[in-house]
Amino acid sequence: MRLSGKRALLIGAATGIGRSTAQDFAREGARIVIADIYFAEAERTAASIRANGGQAHAVACDVCDEQSVQRVVEDAEKSLGGLDTLVFLAGLQRIGHIEAFDSQTWDALFHVNVRGTFFAIKYASPALKRAGGGSIITTSSLAGLRGAAGMTAYAAAKGAVIAFTVAMAQELAPFHIRVNSVLPGWIDTPFNAPSIELMGGVAAHAEVIKRVVPLGRQGTPEEVSPIYVFLASEEARYITAKSMMVDGGMAH
Ligand SMILES: NC(=O)c1ccc[n+]([C@@H]2O[C@H](COP(=O)([O-])OP(=O)(O)OC[C@H]3O[C@@H](n4cnc5c(N)ncnc54)[C@H](O)[C@@H]3O)[C@@H](O)[C@H]2O)c1
Repeated sequence: MRLSGKRALLIGAATGIGRSTAQDFAREGARIVIADIYFAEAERTAASIRANGGQAHAVACDVCDEQSVQRVVEDAEKSLGGLDTLVFLAGLQRIGHIEAFDSQTWDALFHVNVRGTFFAIKYASPALKRAGGGSIITTSSLAGLRGAAGMTAYAAAKGAVIAFTVAMAQELAPFHIRVNSVLPGWIDTPFNAPSIELMGGVAAHAEVIKRVVPLGRQGTPEEVSPIYVFLASEEARYITAKSMMVDGGMAH
């Protein structure tokens, strides 16, 4: 029960890495709100947690809409009786070589990945200050550190998330709020379908994975979510402004 007593809002946790993180948080004793644009799936995830004895409820949220994020944060603080943990996992992936990349797609990537993170931290910070401190965890990507051909706009957006995280860690440290980012490598979720297509399909992708990932395979959501639990827990009380890579050894 490493998160016993924690009150956490997880944004973008209906599916994939977020769902696994929500399940781990509840198993470790946190009371959680799962916010996602995909409400039906968020509700399914929350219901499965409740069926296993955890405390979770789902709300609809579009991170591109500032008022939607504000409302969800305020409601979470009320319904949980305070808020000490924010986890932002919502993400959008679009691929394409730069000559063919249009500005609407560029903007969409920045809206979900970067502006969404900004709105969430902007509205959650006062709640975490009222709670006397806490933990904020953003989600970047190894691509945000190392780049990736054909994923340039996504890499730029995730790079911005890293810089924003580090700056927020400095701004919020006096309030006992830690801010860290998780950087997954290749994790097996449908999120990567466009990148796999760009790389020439499943077989070609598998070859690349064998070559570039020292552990020789993609990770699973269940292999990423424990790092969120750790960062939210008191075990990480001296850790802030960090990029935590979970990548099978790709970055070395
Ligand atoms: N899968 C990977 O290999 C990988 C690698 C690096 C980083 N990531 C990051 O991890 C995070 C989770 O990715 P995943 O692989 O679990 O994929 P996923 O598609 O399962 O999760 C993304 C979640 O974000 C939600 N979302 C999307 N747009 C939203 C919006 N406008 N408002 C609210 N919610 C929205 C989706 O409904 C979904 O639940 C993302 O931020 C992604 O960029 C994933």
